[in-house]
Amino acid sequence: MAHSSAKVPDAEKAEGAVTTRNRRLSPGRRQYLDIKAQHPDALLLVRMGDFYETFDEDAQVMADVLDITLTARDVGGGASSPLAGIPYHSLEAYLGRLISAGLKVAICEQTSDPATAKGIVDRAVVRLVTPGTVLEPGLLDNGRNNYLAAAVVDGGRAGIAYIDITTSEFVTRDLPLDMLRDELDAIGPAEVILDVAADQFLYEDDTTGYVRRRMTEGRLDAELAGERLRRHFKTATLEPFGCDSKPLAAMAAASVLEFVRETQLGSLPQVTTLRTMSDAGYMMLDRRARRDLEVFESLGDRDKAPTLLGTLDQTRSPLGKRLLRERVARPLMDLDELNKRLDGVASWLAESGPRALARDLLDKVPDLERLTNRVRAFSASPRDLAVLARGLGQLPGLIETAKSAGVESGITLIDDARALIEAAIADDPPMSAGGGDAIRTGFDTELDEIRTLSGEAKSYIAGLETTARENTGIKTLKVGYNKVFGYYIEVSRPNLDAVPETWDRRQSLVGGERFITPQLKEYEAKVLTARDRISEVERSVFRRVCGEVAGYADRIMAVAAEVAEMDVSNALAQAASDNGWVRPELNDGDALDIKAGRHPVVESALGPGRFVSNDIQLSSGDQQIAIITGPNMAGKSTYIRQAAILVLMAQIGSFIPAGSASIGLVDRIFTRSGLADDIAGGQSTFMVEMVETAAILHQATRRSLIVLDEIGRGTSTYDGLSIARAVAEHIHNSPRLGCKTLFATHYHEMTTLADLLPRAVNFQVAVSEEDGEVVFLHRIVPGGADRSYGVHVGRLAGLPPAVISRAWDLLAELESNGRSDPDGATGSLGPAFQLSLLSGASPVNDALAEIDVSNLTPLQAITELYRLQEMAGRDNG
Ligand SMILES: Nc1ncnc2c1ncn2[C@@H]1O[C@H](COP(=O)(O)OP(=O)(O)O)[C@@H](O)[C@H]1O
Ligand SMILES: [Mg+2]
Repeated sequence: MAHSSAKVPDAEKAEGAVTTRNRRLSPGRRQYLDIKAQHPDALLLVRMGDFYETFDEDAQVMADVLDITLTARDVGGGASSPLAGIPYHSLEAYLGRLISAGLKVAICEQTSDPATAKGIVDRAVVRLVTPGTVLEPGLLDNGRNNYLAAAVVDGGRAGIAYIDITTSEFVTRDLPLDMLRDELDAIGPAEVILDVAADQFLYEDDTTGYVRRRMTEGRLDAELAGERLRRHFKTATLEPFGCDSKPLAAMAAASVLEFVRETQLGSLPQVTTLRTMSDAGYMMLDRRARRDLEVFESLGDRDKAPTLLGTLDQTRSPLGKRLLRERVARPLMDLDELNKRLDGVASWLAESGPRALARDLLDKVPDLERLTNRVRAFSASPRDLAVLARGLGQLPGLIETAKSAGVESGITLIDDARALIEAAIADDPPMSAGGGDAIRTGFDTELDEIRTLSGEAKSYIAGLETTARENTGIKTLKVGYNKVFGYYIEVSRPNLDAVPETWDRRQSLVGGERFITPQLKEYEAKVLTARDRISEVERSVFRRVCGEVAGYADRIMAVAAEVAEMDVSNALAQAASDNGWVRPELNDGDALDIKAGRHPVVESALGPGRFVSNDIQLSSGDQQIAIITGPNMAGKSTYIRQAAILVLMAQIGSFIPAGSASIGLVDRIFTRSGLADDIAGGQSTFMVEMVETAAILHQATRRSLIVLDEIGRGTSTYDGLSIARAVAEHIHNSPRLGCKTLFATHYHEMTTLADLLPRAVNFQVAVSEEDGEVVFLHRIVPGGADRSYGVHVGRLAGLPPAVISRAWDLLAELESNGRSDPDGATGSLGPAFQLSLLSGASPVNDALAEIDVSNLTPLQAITELYRLQEMAGRDNG
């Protein structure tokens, strides 16, 4: 190889690398180009012996993504092409990296046996792998579904469908276009296919966490979509699936199905049903709220910091883990369903013995859904079946413990499937069928017979050593086996004289010779034929068993759903027990009344006993808007988010951290925070903030809960304050809104609203001062914060004592000025001197009002203080 390439003249080598045209292509190269032409948009991995190889541009791409060496390969006719390969046994690991780089990977296998193939081995692409169509267990997170979604848009509506091909859950719906983004976020897909309109509707930055693709063949029209779905499900109408009058939902579903069919290259027997989701019954939780409330991810340290899901998740099985996640993503408005869930939690909570027992059993429940789905798709291994049977073996115990806890459970036994697997599959079975040890003896007569024959032939050969020794008198004679010569008899050199005439010499070694005999070859043939037959029969028996077990798939899936349900309510009971949570009383009213509520995530971060509980009372007709003021770090944000989180928990059917709670079901939680940690960039932050605030004002209803944290912060004081006030007034006065609102603000001026708006109430976070030190009590008390803690903050920031002391004097002076103004504009606005800042009564006031305290450096603060002092001196003098 090295020789021949060294002989190629440089010029020709260079030319060969550039073009293969007009040259005779090698058969292998031609095969490659043919296959590649069928998958131009995929990275083609070609199995060649122990490697998966890539060529040409694919090699370049793979070398880049995986950071592996790129080499060149002779492709015949003096041409060469770039080449990069990965060992076949590490395919899974590399595949993960390739698809998360957004690539579509085509896996091309050898489809004829290299040992017997004449000429080149046949090859064919067996499947395409993309993030949404991964099957490799090692690449899947068993705590969450791996969804492939598709969205189509028409006018003001969108259709969106999603499938998890590892469980075959397949759902579609249609919805108003402006909910598309939030719905995608609720689904959390790994990959989304979009038609042109949907692609245009979503911003670039919406592609967080999922791979986005344009539909290749353009969009399916409604007619064609319906037909494809009917053909797949072999039904006359789409009525059984609920999308017969929802063309957009059907179009999205058909697109999903087409993409799966394209990537799996075949029929999809495991996709047996489609569910059309209705809009009714769900609480709307948009992605803004999901993020602000840190439901799945924390705002700060993304990986490690605690989340709401993390605090709730005490599930023990992958089934329960996935269901809990779904529930948290989709809170309910359905009172009956919620009460049913809460009943389940209450029962498990009351019975700690059965609860613990059930948890031990749930721990042993494998991923029944994914296992069953592999069985249905004929991709399960013998070991998968054994695991499935063991999982089914936990059902009697689960039924028993549920009964002893007084919990109603829909779990039923599936002992026939389990008995079938146990009878068919050997103990401790291998990862693939065909090796002869997957099927239990006694299960299949034919297999047993061939095994017996093979066993006899093997024992003949095993016995041959003894008989041959006896017959020849050669004590050191040995029977052995190698791949080239098969079975042989080895005789050491000194004993060669004693070898019978009839033996055939096959191989000479340093110390002796190897022989074969006709009889040995005859039995060898028997062994080999039997081995092939065993492999063939075992595979077909295994396939038959899978087919039979697949007949139980619907029942197993239904039971898996019940087990998931049990795991979730048991887990929520465990969380309630660990953290002292209580059952919320839910109703159809619009009041929120929580006594001694706590923020579950902050509480668990602080450790036991350190969190200060607070009451929350809101309703549309009475105390509608709560304005919470207080210094930085007092606990404003925690308090208002706590309200939203407790409602959210209640509406997924969980107990909540409170002394007691009565909650009128909320149709939507809105959150908006103008905190600096949000998005970088001044102007754009403010724009985003206003856009989202506008959305709230448009979409909220009387049953919504709005949580506003420091809105208006992204702009100058006057603008921000004005907008904050106007927003609050609008929420209060608009007859369509009137929704419960928590408004945390550092603008003390906002407290005046309570005087102007009858349903607005002031609260502040209690702070005490001990020896001039600010102590945050984290207690919410009625009334607006009536003085600035800026001076304290200044001291904490390190302003010199002389400045601080002068600031105190000034503050006192200013306060007394404000109060001594009997009929000034400030009078009606309450006692706070800050309120007079807006009255514009004096230049000092004006100057003070213009200072953006939260953006001052300590040095600027000092400078400002000197300037104010000077102005005040002028004023008074
Ligand atoms: N009710 C509470 N009990 C105990 N600690 C609290 C409570 N509320 C807040 N904290 C603590 O105070 C910190 C600041 O709270 P935060 O709500 O961010 O304040 P603010 O929004 O007023 O600046 C939190 O990180 C938490 O550690
Ligand atoms: Mg805050």
